[in-house]
Amino acid sequence: MINIIRVKDYEEASDKAFEVMKDFLKPGKVLGLATGSTPLGLYARMVKDHEENKTSYADIRSFNLDEYVGLPISHPESYYAFMHRNLFDKIDIKEENAHVPSGLGDDLEAQAKKYDAMIDESPVDIQLLGIGSDGHIAFNEPGTPFNSGTHVTDLAESTIKDNCRFFDNDISKVPTQAVTQGIGTIMKARNILLIATGANKAQAVKDMIEGPIDEACPASVLQRHPNVTVIVDEAAAALLK
Ligand code: PGA
Repeated sequence: MINIIRVKDYEEASDKAFEVMKDFLKPGKVLGLATGSTPLGLYARMVKDHEENKTSYADIRSFNLDEYVGLPISHPESYYAFMHRNLFDKIDIKEENAHVPSGLGDDLEAQAKKYDAMIDESPVDIQLLGIGSDGHIAFNEPGTPFNSGTHVTDLAESTIKDNCRFFDNDISKVPTQAVTQGIGTIMKARNILLIATGANKAQAVKDMIEGPIDEACPASVLQRHPNVTVIVDEAAAALLK
């Protein structure tokens, strides 16, 4: 079931997301984390809360959704670097507990299977998601099977264009492949929190919530999940009934 929370704008979406997340910032919990512009406001609130209220991540584990293939982790746009810069380096989570899939290595598919096995051993309590303008969740582009596990994927043209802004607006610098948790992996999370803000997400939000459950809109699978919260701002909710 999708529980929809409508808010005014990005700041209010980040406040609400933190309110939801706060319940899971407890010893033993497993967080599913995401990259992109969407979670930055939430991560800033988690850092502030850690600093002011001493909320500890010492006994919290996390699994990120995805990583570009071929970018060294030292590259500022690798998701490993993004997570360290925006969250991990500012809280007390242990490096060995903060998992980001690796996009480097000789056998990415074998590594992907190991990543799924680790998640199976430590089921995710709350998975944070953004949504692509094409309806993707993580890098599961339209057409990805709903039962997919973590796998290597080609990025859709629209995603490469959307992410160009992180690579000096030079399309030739954007990686074309990623390792991503599959839709089946994401659906195993006990709770899902999706944040969508901005007009360029409006069609994807409508398809996710009101459209048919169809692999053409990966996020529509969330209609089948028992416990999803979607936080949408006015612009992203503009096409909803
Ligand atoms: P964004 O990306 O947060 O940068 O908009 C979301 C996504 O592609 O999942």
